Amino acid sequence: MVMKLLVVGGGGREHAITRALSCNSDVKLFSVMARENPGIARLAERVFLTDETDLPGIVRFAMANGIDVAVIGPEAPLEAGVVDHLEAAGIPCVGPTRAAARIETDKAFCRRLMERHGIAGCPEYRVFQDPEEAGRFIEAYGGDLAVKPIGLTGGKGVRIMGEHVDVAGAVGYVREIGGDVVLEERLIGEEFTLQAFVDGKHLVPMPLVQDHKRAYEGDVGPNTGGMGSYSLSDHMLPFVTRRDYEEALRIMEDTVAAMRDEGTPYRGILYGQFMNTRDGPKVIEFNARFGDPEAMNVLSILESDLAGIVRHIVEGDLSPAHVRFAHKATVCKYIVPEGYPDAPMAGEPLAPGDCGDALLYYANVEERDGVLYTRTSRTLAFVGRGETLEEAEAIAERAASSVTGRVFHRRDIGTQEVLERRCRHMKEVS
Ligand code: AMP
Ligand code: GLY
Repeated sequence: MVMKLLVVGGGGREHAITRALSCNSDVKLFSVMARENPGIARLAERVFLTDETDLPGIVRFAMANGIDVAVIGPEAPLEAGVVDHLEAAGIPCVGPTRAAARIETDKAFCRRLMERHGIAGCPEYRVFQDPEEAGRFIEAYGGDLAVKPIGLTGGKGVRIMGEHVDVAGAVGYVREIGGDVVLEERLIGEEFTLQAFVDGKHLVPMPLVQDHKRAYEGDVGPNTGGMGSYSLSDHMLPFVTRRDYEEALRIMEDTVAAMRDEGTPYRGILYGQFMNTRDGPKVIEFNARFGDPEAMNVLSILESDLAGIVRHIVEGDLSPAHVRFAHKATVCKYIVPEGYPDAPMAGEPLAPGDCGDALLYYANVEERDGVLYTRTSRTLAFVGRGETLEEAEAIAERAASSVTGRVFHRRDIGTQEVLERRCRHMKEVS
């Protein structure tokens, strides 16, 4: 039977979702995106170009095309309530309601939920409305804090004392934010991402991934949406012990149970970003969606049918038996415009060369008369898959370095050297 699926969103993550769904020949794909993503457009039956928060437009398009299930990629439509609107029109969704998406869209809500339910892994935190009061707290604290605006910032709104700012800089930043802010203890350790499929009750985890937030090689430069990421063939990371992993998984399960208890069951993809510290994994944040680029790592090795998983999520009978990943390592490298993230050179032509065995995902890129042009954000992602990390990295690197144009990428992502540095760092902090 034909299943009509709508994917909302037009980035690299949504190209990866669309490609994985397209592996099932009984699926007809529809897409809503703000600007045409050529990779998604090629796989979709029909594309509706509109703002991803145009709720009436999205509902009309879904109804007109008889959509069975909608899969929501980015956070902005979730925050706007796209799931509430589609479900009111009788269209089930993979993605949380507006109330459940607060786990990502309201950092104070997330911390208070964890505290209320005694969920492990919550750093010490305080929420302030008044910037002057927050400033006084920073001055009196006597240690390093993470300063976070309460709402969505595209991964670029956090300032860490001792890394980006000093005391005066942190005080200045809370004044600049001007309103609600979360201050929390600075966590020291190694970051990892755990994503899971959630049907409201059951949670099925995906392989661990590590993202690279900093723009330049050696983890320096400004924070970005993520320059690339890797995962290993055993689906674990060498600086995360089995015990750490189980604790992180339990934190995610407890969070899903807490959401259910509070009458806002969580359905969709739950993304846990953890800092593995000397005291075990702590939650940096939850996201209400796949990570970008982390979606590319896991979806590129998904052996099960994603459309089947989607059906089990909306039917509420998801189990680990429905989800299988290949035992392969993956490396994802993003090509970004020169100047990204602060002053990206948009409108510059670029051309991929020989991609070899790499998968190519289109992100924020324009195609005109067969030529690709940069926009202001991440452009193309290449994913290499292999028996070993080395093999996967070589495939991704060869493809990424074949691109010509005013773009760059991080050559160090997925290299043995970086992995060893991470492991050394973890030992140092333990
Ligand atoms: P976020 O926007 O919450 O993903 O944060 C962006 C980055 O800031 C994260 O990837 C971390 O590297 C860092 N970060 C956030 N919270 C903390 C914290 N409490 N301690 C240390 N680093 C943090
Ligand atoms: N890679 C981080 C994110 O998607 O938020």
